[in-house]
Amino acid sequence: MSALLSRTVSTDSAAPPTAVSDPQGTAAMPVSFEALGRSFSSKAGTHTVLRDVSFDIQAGEIVALLGPSGCGKSTLLRAVAGLDAPSTGTVSIDGTAVSGIDSRCAVAFQEPRLLPWKSIASNVAVGVPSGADAARRRHVVKNLLELVGLSKFAGHRPREISGGMAQRASLARALARNPAVLLLDEPFGALDALTRITMQDLLLDVHAAEPTTVLLVTHDVDEALQLADRIILLGSDGTDTPGCTIVRTVNVPGPRPRDRASSELAGLRSSLLASLGVDGH
Ligand SMILES: Nc1ncnc2c1ncn2[C@@H]1O[C@H](COP(=O)(O)OP(=O)(O)OP(=O)(O)O)[C@@H](O)[C@H]1O
Ligand SMILES: [Mg+2]
Repeated sequence: MSALLSRTVSTDSAAPPTAVSDPQGTAAMPVSFEALGRSFSSKAGTHTVLRDVSFDIQAGEIVALLGPSGCGKSTLLRAVAGLDAPSTGTVSIDGTAVSGIDSRCAVAFQEPRLLPWKSIASNVAVGVPSGADAARRRHVVKNLLELVGLSKFAGHRPREISGGMAQRASLARALARNPAVLLLDEPFGALDALTRITMQDLLLDVHAAEPTTVLLVTHDVDEALQLADRIILLGSDGTDTPGCTIVRTVNVPGPRPRDRASSELAGLRSSLLASLGVDGH
């Protein structure tokens, strides 16, 4: 976690997404999906959610997953964390298949899910791997609270801070695990528009300081265009075969931070919205 210790935040994210080794722990790792499928069976029959999903994420890359509600975005993300097992195919992290809850990953969800009786510092400390000694734990928590701008709120309880601050604490808790792969399931979905933009900028700062591999599920096309190296669109491919699969992949041009008013991004935005079945404006 060298970058966290030095708190070096660069705004130039144009660097190639290659692995960044970390003398204290985990390096960012690549993720591979090979012909992944997921079906759920019930008395009513079999419901195929995902079918034949294959793609690779490079170490240190930020990939956004977009798609209509129910198309299996969270299911795919859960498969990486080992919280759900695919019915067919595999997910591998750094060449090793995921088979059960995978300590190389950390997940942050739409709701911060903080423990209400613990302070913000203690909530972040929950993410630190159990093998760390007390001094190391304090050090990591202190640096992460600084990184997400919550140092002054270390002793507060979750009910005493705002939703955006709670979401920052949740991100810090996920980072405390020093994950090789950071999985974000609509992490800013419940926030107001302004806080959301601040959080997106924070995520880019965090990624520059701690260049982990990121898989981000979002409903927000603009968010995907701001944050991702690549956008994967899941949906129905129009055939009769049930289940959603990859219908489009977009490499997002330009170094981050990106100009939100750029005409190139505006064109991509319209085209992505059209792919999602929404008219661009
Ligand atoms: N454990 C489960 N048992 C049965 N069905 C499930 C289970 N988990 C997910 N599903 C089904 O899989 C489908 C995809 O769910 P998922 O949560 O992955 O969608 P999503 O793309 O994340 O949707 P949203 O954008 O609304 O969050 C849904 O129809 C859901 O009901
Ligand atoms: Mg979901």
